[in-house]
Amino acid sequence: MKFLILNGPNLNLLGRREPEIYGTMTYQGLEELICRACREAGVEVEIFQSNHEGAIVDAIQGAWSRVEGIIINPAAYTHTSIAILDALKAVCIPAVEVHLSDPDTREDFRRISYAGLACVHTIKGQGVEGYRQAILWLKSYLASK
Ligand code: DQA
Repeated sequence: MKFLILNGPNLNLLGRREPEIYGTMTYQGLEELICRACREAGVEVEIFQSNHEGAIVDAIQGAWSRVEGIIINPAAYTHTSIAILDALKAVCIPAVEVHLSDPDTREDFRRISYAGLACVHTIKGQGVEGYRQAILWLKSYLASK
């Protein structure tokens, strides 16, 4: 079983970026956590981060018939990108949405999630541990199918 983990804009600045909201772990630390969690779960993983909407759309399209599951934190594109929503719908790969913070408790403009409309599950407000939860959730979801 292989998962693609996608991270959107500004997540490369984790650790330095608004640590009171997003925590102090660096992006490299997050990648290590994801690799460890996938290894422990017996899941192969590919991780991709981009600050560009089209690159994320390309990565979703490129996942077609290559991975069993997608875990995506579209970051700010969560609230704006119909292109990412359409790409997730197009590939029909079960996807879980992750957010470090809980966007519902923040500004009003963060309450809408377009990508979330194409996801089978959302984990928010759990910090970096949310990624581990998403990996385990998606693994058991796929096993139950
Ligand atoms: C985020 C929440 C988004 O609203 C924000 O634009 C981000 C990060 C999160 O992980 O909490 O960049 O997706």
